[in-house]
Amino acid sequence: MELPFSESYRIKTTEALKRSTKEERAAWIKEAQYNLFKLKSDAVFIDMLTDSGTGAMSNRQWAAIMTGDESYAGASSFHELKDTVKSIMGFDYFLPTHQGRAAENVLFSVLVKEGNIVPGNSHFDTTKGHIEHRKAKAVDCTIDEAFDTTIDHPFKGNLDLEKLEKVYKDYPKEQIPCCIVTVTCNSSGGQPVSIQNMKDVYALSKKYDIPVLYDSARFAENAYFIKLREEPYKDWSIKEIVAEMYQYADYATMSAKKDGVVNIGGFIGFKDEETYRQACTFSILFEGYVTYGGMSGRDMAALAVGLDENTEFDYLETRIKQVEYLGKKLMEYGVPIQYPIGGHAIFVDANKVLPNVPKEEFRAQTLGIELYLEGGVRGVEIGALLADRDPVTRENRYPKLELLRLAVARRVYTDNHMDYIAAALKNVYDRRNEITSGFNITWEAPIMRHFTIELDKA
Ligand code: F0G
Repeated sequence: MELPFSESYRIKTTEALKRSTKEERAAWIKEAQYNLFKLKSDAVFIDMLTDSGTGAMSNRQWAAIMTGDESYAGASSFHELKDTVKSIMGFDYFLPTHQGRAAENVLFSVLVKEGNIVPGNSHFDTTKGHIEHRKAKAVDCTIDEAFDTTIDHPFKGNLDLEKLEKVYKDYPKEQIPCCIVTVTCNSSGGQPVSIQNMKDVYALSKKYDIPVLYDSARFAENAYFIKLREEPYKDWSIKEIVAEMYQYADYATMSAKKDGVVNIGGFIGFKDEETYRQACTFSILFEGYVTYGGMSGRDMAALAVGLDENTEFDYLETRIKQVEYLGKKLMEYGVPIQYPIGGHAIFVDANKVLPNVPKEEFRAQTLGIELYLEGGVRGVEIGALLADRDPVTRENRYPKLELLRLAVARRVYTDNHMDYIAAALKNVYDRRNEITSGFNITWEAPIMRHFTIELDKA
């Protein structure tokens, strides 16, 4: 008999989960103004809100915590992390930050100016937020295939070179501070970018003298997909693939809360010294001295181990197979999801599940609330609430995809939890035709509204 797949780790510590009743959940979500971010975590049974900072650290990472050097300047933990980033990604210059958006804040303070144009593949919301906050504009150059959840394409995170070149031709290079390649591309469904596309984007960008920045939150998952789906790399190790990926980047911003598998942390990688020098000033202003940048020594020590461990095939295989397991279950039940299944999450196509809810009443948010009511499972809306208003017209933006994301925390839940989530969503799906109304906004912040928004039943 062929031996089945099984996880590449065993579990040493556990954390109790609290069950609740439908009546309790109905009261809690109303109290939270129908904003899933405002729920107390005790009110959630299985939390699929995010894979960011929610992972379980390994025994080696916990051991590294005890070796953390808390010196204000020049800590050995800083040097361990800097050396690890150099050996994995190849960056000579490095600044730690407290998380990914802090890396964006520090680097964009140097690079992005008012009136700038920043092309990329479906910029993540904080990335776009930091661009728009500086009165610059993000232009989405993702390939069209990414916007049809049913098309089977191995690299739906790829950039469309024609769209990118149009940006490079339409604006002078002084107005384009960089091109952002998000690996994997979160907003389009945790979809990977191929090495071929990275090479092509880099060559085109060099032709127009534009630097390339990798938003690297899930860079290792991207490398895993390259190994599986891009023929020339099938025999390469994950670390070799990662090294190759970063040949075609000038900068990286990293949210280490994802593929670093730590609960907090981030960094910036630079190939040129001048940008690094300028960024140091902003690091000191916003984050902290350049050898800790908002992280404690112990967190930097745990991250150095996390980066090393999580660029190994066995770990990535366990992780991504669990996401796939959930996706396949949902497909068996007929629930429409972004296909192929991405690296860190399942993205449910809410336009297809709830076409009877007016789009102005936020279909993906409505689906997220129904799933919470059904089984205490918390996902997150990646749709019109997150897309926010146009900064100029202040009209609501309705993105091509209206998705409910179910993000899988790293090394936290078992496949039984995945079965439970799939069953809860199936129950919602089976009664989808009875759901005909959604939610109206009663209060919203001027930017990044989805985190704090208040809603009421329409
Ligand atoms: N870039 C990408 C692609 C991200 O997914 C995130 C965060 C960030 C940057 C910002 O990093 O949270 O450390 O400040 N994504 C989280 C998520 C929040 O749930 O997908 P951060």
